[in-house]
Amino acid sequence: MRTQVGIIGAGPAGLLLSHLLHLRGISSVVLERRSRDYVERRVRAGVLEQGTVDTLDEAGVGARMRREGLPHHGIELRYGGAGHRIAFDKLVPGRAITVYGQQEVVKDLIAARLAAGGDLRFEVEDVAVHSLESEPYVTFGGERLDCDVIAGCDGFHGVSRPSVPEGVLEVFEREYPFAWLGVLAEVAPSSEELIYARTERGFALHSMRSPTVSRFYLQVPADTDVADWPDERVWAELKARLETVPGFELATGEIIEKGVTPMRSFVVEPMQYGRLYLAGDAAHIVPPTGAKGLNLAVADVRVLTEALAAFFEHGSSELLDGYSRACLKRVWRAQHFSWWMTTLLHTFDDDDPYGRRLQTSYLDYVTSSEAAATTLAENYVGLPSD
Ligand code: FAD
Ligand code: PHB
Repeated sequence: MRTQVGIIGAGPAGLLLSHLLHLRGISSVVLERRSRDYVERRVRAGVLEQGTVDTLDEAGVGARMRREGLPHHGIELRYGGAGHRIAFDKLVPGRAITVYGQQEVVKDLIAARLAAGGDLRFEVEDVAVHSLESEPYVTFGGERLDCDVIAGCDGFHGVSRPSVPEGVLEVFEREYPFAWLGVLAEVAPSSEELIYARTERGFALHSMRSPTVSRFYLQVPADTDVADWPDERVWAELKARLETVPGFELATGEIIEKGVTPMRSFVVEPMQYGRLYLAGDAAHIVPPTGAKGLNLAVADVRVLTEALAAFFEHGSSELLDGYSRACLKRVWRAQHFSWWMTTLLHTFDDDDPYGRRLQTSYLDYVTSSEAAATTLAENYVGLPSD
């Protein structure tokens, strides 16, 4: 079997790449080890930057997102007994975010690929990549896929990145001493906008998916077992961390999904080796506090699509050679922003009173200085592409 681009992974990166390549007349095969049902139900990110929304729209897969997604023009930072709005509409006019679940993006992309006759293979076993320097190929479940280029879109735990010979990729990494317990609940959001709450008990985030479904996160210790968090405990802790301003009451409902996400910062440089190009979580991870993971994956794919189009249409390797360099500027900006939001809003076990006061004094600065608030807002809504 032969295709132009062999894509490993049917997450947002792999599916979007396959779709954008199709629009440019470039063939691909997507190989995914999980089932379609599994990837369509996997609850993850929810915040789409303007650039991500525009990319999905331009690619013709934005209709449902436009109908069902929730445009937001600000977020709230809640700490010290008060809420402070970061007003995107005032600070970065014309730019906003859209709250729309990652699994909805995945569903829309799968539907678009299948409608166009795309070759998506789910539940493939033993995917391995070979001959990365030239004439690469992929093997899976006893089959062989020859391709011109391989796109490693298989997330942090995939096979693509570990297939690069030792010593080629430089790894930059930081682990955090906490995780996020995420829950999805059938209850109307108690706030119109997202609330990022810093408390002495730890961080909490109030997000949402629709007028009837809310999404919450709690900072928990890194080794947390979800079994230790029955629903009553989740609600009690969410209330303790969110009901910290006068008059705010958190509505509760049935919890329909619960999971623990470790927190990590990770980048490899370069994001390519021979004919293998890494995109999305396969190349970099951010802690979710800045809501950047999915958006970075989309930005990588945009760059990779242009580079592959130049390669297949004109035989030019220049953009492909510069792929990693072109992506890493945005990647590192998002790394810093995500690390910064994380250290600003979470409690650390080894924090002393001095460290805690530094956090609140910096939050005071961000919420009172227009320049500081603008920096947060422009990073949160996403920097324009170069
Ligand atoms: P993924 O979505 O991870 O897709 C990779 C795909 O490759 C998967 O479908 C996987 O099954 C497949 N795959 C892996 N190995 C193989 C293999 N050997 N063979 C074939 N296929 C393979 N970001 C936020 O902004 N907010 C959040 O709340 C948030 N929550 C998250 C929770 C979790 C548990 C995780 C892991 C990530 C979360 N993120 C969040 C980050 C965001 O979801 C990711 O950045 C985004 O999914 C990246 O997309 P991707 O396509 O690069 O990778
Ligand atoms: C979400 O809605 O899942 C979400 C929102 C904001 C974040 C992370 C996750 O920073």
